[in-house]
Amino acid sequence: MHRLQAPSPASPDPFDPVTVPPVSSPTDYVLGTHDPEADRLRVQHELWIDEASRAWDAIGVAAGAHVIDLGCGPGLVTEALAERVGPTGRAVGIELSPAFAAQARSRCARFGSAAAIEELDLMAAHLPNDLHRQFDAAWIRWLLMFLPDPGRVLSLAHEALHPGGLIAIHEYVNYPTYGLLDGSPRIAEFVQYAMASFGKGGGDANIARRLPALLAMHGFDLVQVRPIARVARPNDSLWHWPAGFVRTYAPRLVELGFADHAWLEATLAELTAAERDPSSVLMCPTLLELVARRR
Ligand SMILES: C[S@@+](CC[C@H](N)C(=O)[O-])C[C@H]1O[C@@H](n2cnc3c(N)ncnc32)[C@H](O)[C@@H]1O
Repeated sequence: MHRLQAPSPASPDPFDPVTVPPVSSPTDYVLGTHDPEADRLRVQHELWIDEASRAWDAIGVAAGAHVIDLGCGPGLVTEALAERVGPTGRAVGIELSPAFAAQARSRCARFGSAAAIEELDLMAAHLPNDLHRQFDAAWIRWLLMFLPDPGRVLSLAHEALHPGGLIAIHEYVNYPTYGLLDGSPRIAEFVQYAMASFGKGGGDANIARRLPALLAMHGFDLVQVRPIARVARPNDSLWHWPAGFVRTYAPRLVELGFADHAWLEATLAELTAAERDPSSVLMCPTLLELVARRR
């Protein structure tokens, strides 16, 4: 049994790779819904709230708006959307995983009927009739990259929106930008394996490249497109996002058969060494923000 290197005390990280449990539910998607993944999504939410808020401004998520959050995870974003739209608006989250849907429901319970969570598989189910043509705005982030048929989600978003309603999407456009700028080899392999693992389920890490065409095909006119590129240094709070993903997902890649325990140990050691070096720069995978209007 390998003993994995502990995270650097200089950069405490909540994600201990030794304790990452296997994905437990048949309805989980590839990243899983175990506690470290829920923690990672919480850290992620805090680090990306400013970028998300810019997108929500662009699609008019303000007091009184009705907004749908597709692939809402444990509901952190749905909760923030419900806060934004207030008691005269409505925020509805759609989620595949029963565990995440339950967390989202308890997070949003305080909003009463101004927030709701629907547990359904966007690849298989239809939206309930009472969600058709109900929304002014739709939000999708880090969902389409995992799905074999992202166009299906866009057609459901089309169904949910009023004509003229706006959708904002944050998905990756250039995943291989993820990595240490010095090209550290294990982290570079991690990125390649991660992309391959998303592809195994029919996903596409660089899905944003296809979104302008898919949006047009599914009844949307593109309004604006903006790249989002971010870098982190070891003492930045942002560091914990790309580094934390290596810590939670590298053990999962071993579980999925992409690599072995020796690789895992070497990868985490490389990350820890980078964390101790103040000259390290860890680039995040580059995102694209797309805003489009429903025809
Ligand atoms: C990376 S998380 C992103 C969560 C959230 N959108 C955010 O930005 O924090 C992807 C979420 O999409 C959900 N998901 C994956 N496939 C789905 C499907 N077919 N139908 C509904 N939700 C799905 C996963 O369960 C997970 O909660």
